[in-house]
Amino acid sequence: MSASLSVNIDHVATVRQARRAAEPDPVAAAVLCDLAGADGITCHLRGDRRHIQDEDLHRLRRVVTTRLNVEMAATEEMLSIARRVRPDLVTLVPERPGEVTTEGGIDAARHRRTLARHVAALRRSRIASSLFIDPVPAQVDAAADIGVAMIELNTNAYSIATTASEQAEAYDALVAAATRASEAGLAVAAGHGLTVRNVTPIAEIPEVVELNIGHSIIARAVLIGLENAVREIRDAIARAEPIGDHLS
Ligand code: PXP
Repeated sequence: MSASLSVNIDHVATVRQARRAAEPDPVAAAVLCDLAGADGITCHLRGDRRHIQDEDLHRLRRVVTTRLNVEMAATEEMLSIARRVRPDLVTLVPERPGEVTTEGGIDAARHRRTLARHVAALRRSRIASSLFIDPVPAQVDAAADIGVAMIELNTNAYSIATTASEQAEAYDALVAAATRASEAGLAVAAGHGLTVRNVTPIAEIPEVVELNIGHSIIARAVLIGLENAVREIRDAIARAEPIGDHLS
């Protein structure tokens, strides 16, 4: 079975916020993604509210019937919002003011105790959590220690690689981290910088059960329509053959 697709709709809200207007509405986008076969919706409530707004989260919660994954920083403010909205999953991400996008995985090894407290607080509110981490053994081990059910592996190094050998090295790190995480009992998602052109090999990693993809889908949607953009990336995911099948 191919990995499921959670579409990140942040950049629909980016276009809206460019004019502080009412459209395009990320909630309408979530409905279209659903109709086009997305398995879930992801959005990131940033501290600076540059795209998704608090009210969007409440509206998304009412409309998304698949799986709502909210990315957020591990702060008290975000914890209390998560408790009110009650997404299906909270993915904890690092946030640096002024960054263009999430710049790397959260340092789970360094912030182990704080994150464990945060994850436990979410669990007490019966909200599952995931950690966005770089594909590094120490980060996978820390995530397992912290007690999340899921991790999301940062595919950015793979996505931005400019040579085949750089990309192969980044890919090998993702395969190794996915294997290690799965052996530790963690469910594995992956995302960042994935596109219709580079997603298939990531979907071929057997442990990867979910892909979170945003910018490339919304960027292509401007030109070919949202439903087409979701369908074409779904097709690219479905083309995946489990690693090893190529050899037979
Ligand atoms: N996963 C995480 C944790 C992210 O922060 C982002 C970007 O918001 C994504 C996945 C999606 O990345 P992209 O927009 O490059 O597809």
